[in-house]
Amino acid sequence: MTKGPTWDAQLYDRYGRFVSDHGAIILKWLDAKEGETILDAGCGDGALTQEIAKGGANVVGIERAASMAKAAQARGLDVRQMDLCSLEDEAQYQAIFSNAVLHWIADWPDLLARFYKALKPNGRLVVECGGFGNIAAIRTAIVAVAKQYNVPTHAAPEQYLTTQSATTVLQQAGFQLARMELVPRQTSLPNGMAGWLEVFREPFLAQFEPAQKEQVMDDLLDLLAGQLKTQDGAWFADYVRLRFVAKKEDLS
Ligand code: BEZ
Repeated sequence: MTKGPTWDAQLYDRYGRFVSDHGAIILKWLDAKEGETILDAGCGDGALTQEIAKGGANVVGIERAASMAKAAQARGLDVRQMDLCSLEDEAQYQAIFSNAVLHWIADWPDLLARFYKALKPNGRLVVECGGFGNIAAIRTAIVAVAKQYNVPTHAAPEQYLTTQSATTVLQQAGFQLARMELVPRQTSLPNGMAGWLEVFREPFLAQFEPAQKEQVMDDLLDLLAGQLKTQDGAWFADYVRLRFVAKKEDLS
């Protein structure tokens, strides 16, 4: 069985804020212009949507999680609560932007076809998500502890593509690749690894009773400390980012 996190806006604000705090590079790649119509695909609580809107673009956000969509709407943003994979818009956007979402999508060909259709001719798709090797140490620790307790990992269908597979799937959807990179980013977790696990590995932890959950958390932290905790006690996550800009050709 595969299940994703619940995406509670308050917990995310406390333990996941670094996700939007790291948005500077991909916002630069987006280079939103005043008056452009832009879709923020999987906008979360709207922190980056708001940044894009500040420059005068007309930004529409799509967010599946009710709590996050509500938090984004509370910022005064135009946000539709729906599943990105049901997007039916046609030739509406000059750009589609997405940060830290596409690795949760199982069917990239279907989603990319929807993005392609939703873009205007010459439109661009600007994405950052987890790439090949992302959170490898964390995923390995979860597998090891799941085995130890004889329980499922409850991993959501995460996909961490290589540049080669991402290029192929983009080209098959009709996009022309303008730029792409796959870069490791040791990501500081100011509120620790336990908080990260509570938010992003919630379905795995939720299967344990409170006392056992505490032991499981200790086991995970013990396994991870060697690779992801510094000598002075600071935690990092072993993120690898896949970033790309892909264009929809003007075939008219
Ligand atoms: C990511 O942004 O790469 C990510 C965040 C949480 C869980 C898995 C991946």
